[in-house]
Amino acid sequence: MSALTTRSSRLPQGLADDLAACRAPAGSAATLPPACYTDPEVHALEDAVIFRQGWVGVGRSDTWSANGDYRTFEIGGVPVVVVRDDDGHLRAYANSCSHRSSQIMQGEGTCARMRCRFHFWTYGLDGRLIGAPSMQRTPDFDTGAHGLTEFALSERHGFALVSLESDPPEIDAWLGDFGDLHADWPLADVVTTRRREFTVDCNWKAFAEVFNEYYHLPYVHPDSIDDTYEEPDAPDPVNGAYASQFGATVGTGALLDDTQDRALPTIPGLTGRPLTGVRYSWLFPNLVVALGQEALWMYEVYPDGPDRCRCAQVICFPQATIDGPDFEERVADYYERFDVALSEDIPMLVQQHAGQRSPFARQGRYSYLEPSVAAFADWYAGRLLSVS
Ligand SMILES: [Fe+2]
Repeated sequence: MSALTTRSSRLPQGLADDLAACRAPAGSAATLPPACYTDPEVHALEDAVIFRQGWVGVGRSDTWSANGDYRTFEIGGVPVVVVRDDDGHLRAYANSCSHRSSQIMQGEGTCARMRCRFHFWTYGLDGRLIGAPSMQRTPDFDTGAHGLTEFALSERHGFALVSLESDPPEIDAWLGDFGDLHADWPLADVVTTRRREFTVDCNWKAFAEVFNEYYHLPYVHPDSIDDTYEEPDAPDPVNGAYASQFGATVGTGALLDDTQDRALPTIPGLTGRPLTGVRYSWLFPNLVVALGQEALWMYEVYPDGPDRCRCAQVICFPQATIDGPDFEERVADYYERFDVALSEDIPMLVQQHAGQRSPFARQGRYSYLEPSVAAFADWYAGRLLSVS
């Protein structure tokens, strides 16, 4: 077991048995045990096995638009800063000073270099230590030995992914046939027009789940988006760390039921079935993506303990649409649709979390309308069981 997993403990046998019940097709699988959404020990194991191993999404590459743009994250309990370096390359570093480990960068912004506020140790965007005041009397102090720890960062299809493993899995093997299944959409070319962060008082998995199932639409979104969505297709059999399902819509899934007449142009070059609905894909563990006829909308989800998650709503359009007439005015209808649906989901998620915290909460079963939720649970259970 690597140093990255030393905080993890072995699974209690009861939990291992419960997780094993999730390793089945949706029709026969149990839902994840409630402890996976609430138990601090499971959360610590998740940090080690789900977030400090494999690849974790950190969003859309184009949201770091200029050299020096940075954004901080906490991934598996590890402060991380992602920055575009002086050569234009996106890079990820441990966001802990090499002096006495203070977090260096906070939030997001643009910088010429990364300076720790505590004692002004200063790092270039390449992670090298380039300034350390009052260290001249420290014998044998070698600035070259005190740069920031760098993590693997890969960009695929416009998404940036980070791995905290020193020898991460090969990214294309991790993603499997994700690129093939999404080849109809110009994923790498769409442009982010909005990214906004917020927190929700629920477990990160529940937030991702609700974005990937049609079951709740008539009950949680009866007057906003439910009329737009028809019965989804069967889930796509996939190879890789993701799940995906296409569903037809009446009009566009990216607008409210009552603003369907205000649709922006469809994505140039999009033809056939993708023009008739939305593909919902969950890039495990923490990016949930919707590919519509005219837009891509997605959420980044990061755990903040078992009881809270930090999320970012991200919306992207083709450049040709952004350049079109009255885009700023017309896109408001889109932002409203995403915000309205979210405002309907969040109270439900908070209520769900309260129920999950009960000692009497237990595993349930899936409807046929939740196959991507079941696919994630199968993958997640497999990862946790791999260390037990
Ligand atoms: Fe919803």
